[in-house]
Amino acid sequence: MDLYIDTANLDEIKKAHDMGVLDGVTTNPSLIAKEGIDYTKRLAEICEVVQGPVSAEVIAVDYDGMISEGRDRAKIAENIVVKLPSTVAGVKACKTLSDEGIRTNLTLCFQPLQALMVAKAGAFLVSPFIGRLDDIGQDGMDLIQQIRQVYDNYGYPTKILAASIRHSQHLLACALVGADVATVPYSVIEGMMKHPLTDSGVEKFVSDYKKAFG
Ligand code: G3P
Repeated sequence: MDLYIDTANLDEIKKAHDMGVLDGVTTNPSLIAKEGIDYTKRLAEICEVVQGPVSAEVIAVDYDGMISEGRDRAKIAENIVVKLPSTVAGVKACKTLSDEGIRTNLTLCFQPLQALMVAKAGAFLVSPFIGRLDDIGQDGMDLIQQIRQVYDNYGYPTKILAASIRHSQHLLACALVGADVATVPYSVIEGMMKHPLTDSGVEKFVSDYKKAFG
């Protein structure tokens, strides 16, 4: 399973990258707004740190605007993946950009037929949002499972990038149903290696050794 970090915060990206297990980065306009920095500048900075796919979202919601912004974003670095919304205009833009050799990530996917359409249009990634479905009383994991089945039925190469992951149980469930990628906040990455029995076990090994050998 590939692990991406879902943030535009450079310090968090560097810390996750330093662990040696980071495969990519996802950003969105809300995450960039939180940082209060120019989007293009920050994307270039991120691409200097991480060599894997870095998702850069368009702001435009119409086809022409998405194409123009998408081409601009793709020029920032070779590892940029253009993030487009899972709308009719988005799927059209996905087809055009994919045909030009620009990789795309179709975001805000909330039902499996959106995932089927974007796979047909050549999307490199599709981003189903788990947490936001849970927020409105639906089971986000059902969506991941259904997309997995549709893609496996027909052999679509589009990767399922589980997004809107809020906690480690979401992440574990994604790994169990076979999401190709999970994008998570830094707090979730940190939590992956935490267990109180690991900490107390390490403490005891060290203290036993010191008691015996000084
Ligand atoms: O990757 C998409 C993610 O940023 C959305 O997460 O927590 O705002 O639903 P959230």
